[in-house]
Amino acid sequence: MTVTSVALAAYVIAGLLFVLSLAGLSAQESARRGTVLGMLGMGLAIVATIALALDRSERPWPVTAGLILLVLVVGAAVGSWRARRVEMTQMPELIALLHSFVGLSAVLVGYGSFLAEPVGAAGGDTVHRVEVFLGVLIGAVTFTGSVVAFGKLSGRLPSAPLTLPGRHALNLLALVASAVLLAWFVVADDVGTAVWALVLMTVVALALGWHLVAAIGGGDMPVVVSMLNSYSGWAAAAAGFTLGNDLLIITGALVGASGAILSYLMCKAMNRSFWSVVLGGFGAGAAGGPPGGGTAEAGEVRETSPDEVAALLTAARSVVVVPGYGMAVAKAQHPVADLAERLRARGVTVRFGVHPVAGRLPGHMNVLLAEARVPYDVVLEMDEVNPDLPDTDVVLVIGANDTVNPAAQDDPSSPIAGMPVIEAWKARDVVVFKRSLATGYAGVQNPLFFRENTRMLFGDAKEQVDKIVQAL
Ligand code: TAP
Repeated sequence: MTVTSVALAAYVIAGLLFVLSLAGLSAQESARRGTVLGMLGMGLAIVATIALALDRSERPWPVTAGLILLVLVVGAAVGSWRARRVEMTQMPELIALLHSFVGLSAVLVGYGSFLAEPVGAAGGDTVHRVEVFLGVLIGAVTFTGSVVAFGKLSGRLPSAPLTLPGRHALNLLALVASAVLLAWFVVADDVGTAVWALVLMTVVALALGWHLVAAIGGGDMPVVVSMLNSYSGWAAAAAGFTLGNDLLIITGALVGASGAILSYLMCKAMNRSFWSVVLGGFGAGAAGGPPGGGTAEAGEVRETSPDEVAALLTAARSVVVVPGYGMAVAKAQHPVADLAERLRARGVTVRFGVHPVAGRLPGHMNVLLAEARVPYDVVLEMDEVNPDLPDTDVVLVIGANDTVNPAAQDDPSSPIAGMPVIEAWKARDVVVFKRSLATGYAGVQNPLFFRENTRMLFGDAKEQVDKIVQAL
């Protein structure tokens, strides 16, 4: 048995573990097992790759081992430092940043692979050149696209869509230019010319990635995160072809396909067509709106207090909690779970209604509620909870805003028109927990705050829920 055959067998096992990991991650109950299987697969893949690298290295093995150890230690140190420090609310931006690393790696692998053996077209392998070109192209688009997504999600760049005149023509021009450069790269007989074609395409692809994501605004950002997830998978798969690494191809394809499926599901959840999101420019004028900017029909707001809400809950038979991004910011999941538990102990039916794009990353609310040990069977999806809301006594909207906005149904001119929402206003009483009348991520005013049956409980969600628990 050679090192290569053992390593390849380990790759197959790692690939299977990744498939099982994805299967586990598809349900909350099995998500922990899915994560562990993924970690095992990745551990095995790293060990097998190091063994292969040492076996194939032309340098003395201690030198190769030392280099690998160095990058492993530096990477692991930076990774664990970030993972320890990152707040749950910063996860989407961290993920966007990590996607940019995958894109950058694909670009570097493409250049490295081509420059290591720069043969002229006559002596070179056309398929290899196409692999290099596509790897660099997808990697470069992923890199700048992810950097812009990081900027928008972290508030470093404006979340409003950038709508340049003729932007679709610009994107098309970039694609046509890349196709011409591909032909030039493949037929170029001298290496210098080929490198020029590669460099020019890289510049075009970097600009394309930047522009594609800059043109996507406000409420469509959830799809961008999953779309870049998909791109990063294809970039890894392309790098796998360039390096002749089967596991990278399998893993990249798994990530690429699952990201694409997630993008489709997110589009469906938001009632948006995938192409209208990808081509961008929607939601203009909304995402940049001033926080708290009212609309003409704003009207009067009724304020309430923790004691009044405690009294309302004491008299209720059924309560639905709708969590949103504000619950994550306030870190209110533990007191919210405590409140739900106390009400259940008093015989009140308490359920949670989770919108598919609540928070800032897919599954954000589910993760927080699982962390606070809310039983999975009381956490319902939007479609499950909506039919029950007219028979619900009290809905507690904890830091959610866009995902409970009736304008999505009532106002065809609203930037979020058509997006399915949790119909909180249909309950007998609604209590909205937030600090002000500021808008949510999409920058759209919310008429729910001014409805007859809505009470606003202003303040930090965690502090207010704590006070209600005390009052109870
Ligand atoms: P949002 O509409 O973003 O509203 C969150 C609300 O929480 C804000 O209006 C804010 O109001 C309030 N808040 C913030 N800190 C708070 C605190 N400490 N205590 C109490 N309230 C606080 O939330 P949502 O309903 O979850 O909707 C999610 C939005 O993000 C959607 O537009 C979605 O498209 C977008 N998005 C989602 C994702 C994914 S994948 N889920 C990714 C990117 C973007 P105050 O400032 O007045 O307190």
